[in-house]
Amino acid sequence: MKILVTGGAGFIASNFVRYMLSRYPDVSIVNLDSLTYAGNLENLADLDERRHVFIKGDISSVEDVESVFKKHSFENVVNFAAESHVDRSLHFGAQVFIRTNIAGTQVLLDMSRQYGVKRFVQISTDEVYGSLGNTGKFTEMSTIQPNNPYAATKASADFMVRAAHKSHGLNAVITRCSNNFGPYQFPEKLIPLMIANALENRDLPVYGDGMHVRDWIFVIDHCSAIDLVMRNAEAGSIYNIGSDHDVPNLEIVKLVLKILDKPETLIKHVLDRPGHDRRYAMDSSKIRKDLGWRPAFSFEQAMKKTVDWYLGNRAWLEHIRSGAYMKYYETLYRDRLAKSSS
Ligand code: NAD
Ligand code: DAU
Repeated sequence: MKILVTGGAGFIASNFVRYMLSRYPDVSIVNLDSLTYAGNLENLADLDERRHVFIKGDISSVEDVESVFKKHSFENVVNFAAESHVDRSLHFGAQVFIRTNIAGTQVLLDMSRQYGVKRFVQISTDEVYGSLGNTGKFTEMSTIQPNNPYAATKASADFMVRAAHKSHGLNAVITRCSNNFGPYQFPEKLIPLMIANALENRDLPVYGDGMHVRDWIFVIDHCSAIDLVMRNAEAGSIYNIGSDHDVPNLEIVKLVLKILDKPETLIKHVLDRPGHDRRYAMDSSKIRKDLGWRPAFSFEQAMKKTVDWYLGNRAWLEHIRSGAYMKYYETLYRDRLAKSSS
């Protein structure tokens, strides 16, 4: 089976490529990635080049995508490529999010139809549902109510995928997963950022009161769910993916400090993220019932594995933190801290 994976030099998709190649000897993967700040070829360094081909290209460029489809015949397309960070969509504006997340998805849908792809998987997110109150969980039937520019572009892409299925009969499915963590996650996201800052004895910026709740899932459990959906889901279906581990951010941050034996005095409450969704929680009973999916890792096991990975890969972390990323981070954080204390 030949699969086109987009965004495969990023966090989740690089784990997915590794997951698929290690489990299925008959799978080969073409990985299309434009290598934005989040794309990192070091994430793919150990992969067998006979079964994994990397191509640098932009999913929003018809020319780039068509040249890949002309060269390869794909059974499945799994679209991970995205601008993935809420803070960037607020700090830099939505344009690049619209281009990649919406227009890029449309290019892939059109090309998949034109070249007879058998299954298109869109990797979406729980953020499309907006925020929950104190109780309840998101189901696949919850209203789509995105509250930040990133989430709005992901929701728009979901609608284009739905339209490609309904209007043109493309065999497309959508997965909506909660917050991932694990190896290779870019250290702008909560868990790797807190690990990296704690290791350097830097402040750990917690937005607002830190009582915003997210449902944390180990990246490998997300990968196993995508695999099942790709192989077995009914055309046009949508699946929520979550691990029922709903925790306030502050608890996550304190746990990181505890594992690393660092003091809680490193925690700094800073100005809240605008439009910050208060609580996410996923009802993933549909994928459990229909496809028999279960998370294989406990939260504690997965956190230990994750922290160990970052400890064992200090060069990977330092490479990123010695580049342009830290300049952006300092600006963002300085800004939040200044506004917070005024
Ligand atoms: P990431 O930012 O780590 O990786 C994104 C990858 O996409 C990078 O390698 C980047 O170079 C590539 N990319 C960006 N724009 C591109 C373009 N125009 N053309 C080709 N490649 C491009 O992201 P991630 O956290 O691994 O997320 C992957 C997908 O999963 C995204 O679609 C995201 O919305 C979704 N998702 C993420 C989470 C999470 O917790 N991280 C949860 C649910 C869903
Ligand atoms: O829910 C799924 C989404 O999870 C994905 O769709 C996104 O691609 C992914 O980036 C992630 O979005 P979040 O905005 O939830 O991720 P982040 O790690 O940035 O933030 C997690 C929570 O932690 C959120 O409530 C904001 C808070 N936070 C984050 C950072 C970076 C802090 O308090 N301090 C921080 O420095």
